[in-house]
Amino acid sequence: MNYRGPHRVRIDHKPEPEILHPQDAIVRVTRTCICGSDLHLYNGSVPDTRVGMTFGHEFTGVVEEIGDGVEKLKVGDHVLVPFNIACGSCVFCQQGLYGNCHESNPQATAVGGIYGYSHTAGGYDGGQAEYVRVPYADVSPTVIPDWMDPDDAVLLTDVVPTGYQGAEMGGIQTGDTVVVFGAGPVGIMAARCAWLFGAGRVIVIDCVDFRLEFARNYAPCEAYDFRSLEDPVVFIKGTTDSLGADVVIDAVGAEAAGSALQTVLGRKLLLQGGSATALHWSINSVKKGGIVSIVGVYGPVGTHVPMGNVVNKGLTIRANQASVKRLLPRLIEHVQSGVLDPKAMITHRVPLEEVSDAYRIFSAKLDDCIKPVLMPPSARS
Ligand SMILES: NC(=O)c1ccc[n+]([C@@H]2O[C@H](COP(=O)([O-])OP(=O)(O)OC[C@H]3O[C@@H](n4cnc5c(N)ncnc54)[C@H](O)[C@@H]3O)[C@@H](O)[C@H]2O)c1
Ligand SMILES: [Zn+2]
Ligand SMILES: [Zn+2]
Repeated sequence: MNYRGPHRVRIDHKPEPEILHPQDAIVRVTRTCICGSDLHLYNGSVPDTRVGMTFGHEFTGVVEEIGDGVEKLKVGDHVLVPFNIACGSCVFCQQGLYGNCHESNPQATAVGGIYGYSHTAGGYDGGQAEYVRVPYADVSPTVIPDWMDPDDAVLLTDVVPTGYQGAEMGGIQTGDTVVVFGAGPVGIMAARCAWLFGAGRVIVIDCVDFRLEFARNYAPCEAYDFRSLEDPVVFIKGTTDSLGADVVIDAVGAEAAGSALQTVLGRKLLLQGGSATALHWSINSVKKGGIVSIVGVYGPVGTHVPMGNVVNKGLTIRANQASVKRLLPRLIEHVQSGVLDPKAMITHRVPLEEVSDAYRIFSAKLDDCIKPVLMPPSARS
């Protein structure tokens, strides 16, 4: 796919990627998803998103070619490729902070490299394509086990680790009430994973009925439409003995609805790093001393949130891009044992050539869409 400007993506023929470094591999894509994070690019909210870029940071593929320095990966391997591009050896990778690699992104003051995620994340072309260049090929790409369905594998590149890390960062204690804002794929997975950490009650808040219904059955959880609540913060306080939730997870990020002021400042005028409505609600609905875990993505500029409440309530805020490689061994086990069933979230399988329709449907939450998978022509036979 080829980004042409806000809300315009199309299919184009681009030259096939080439090995540029001895540790590169070229992968022929077999599955690739559209993520809520792609919507920030699609909506034009991410700085330095250049016309001509190919998006896509969730993909599986077959290794077609390897550089001279690649030792573990072999031509013909079918791999899942974590969305973080990580060198594996810098000071941050060594701490397991693969999402904050200091080598893979020349702009690396914060995030490391990410496939197809603007020049603020390294300027790498992404996987919504037939072929993609995969740097540091021996570090993160992981051979898909024989028993694993490729539909599960592609969701292990981002959604599953992100949801899991959202719950993990919440520091959930046995019996905790966990609130998740956002019933997109990430929020749904965070809600499901909250149980693995011992949650006693899980509540999901969104405004899209079919997603709430899906979350209710899949997580499983209580699920509420914030449009039918007078104030979601008051509602959460009311249902937790007036104390607030023990843990709140923001799985919405910059495209949040629900506050006209935040929408104007963050999504229309771009005066802040997105609309911080869900984050605002998270801070105000967690109990004193509680933890807010943020996996929703925000832009790099300042954002209007009730910082005074963070201080005066004694909150802990934890946030990051998911560290996919760190979590993969555990999550592969969870898929094998059936504890997690990621592919159940895939609602749409779309030919890659119809990428612009897929963006329109996923972005507008049409046609009961939860997670679309794009299939390149060579993977459809
Ligand atoms: N940290 C990471 O590593 C990482 C990885 C993947 C995705 N993300 C981010 O996670 C977020 C969710 O991703 P997704 O793929 O599930 O996206 P999505 O767009 O499919 O889902 C977001 C959901 O939030 C809902 N929503 C909007 N405003 C809300 C509000 N005020 N309160 C509650 N819900 C609200 C929407 O209706 C939608 O269902 C995005 O910001 C994405 O960028 C982060
Ligand atoms: Zn993603
Ligand atoms: Zn690194």
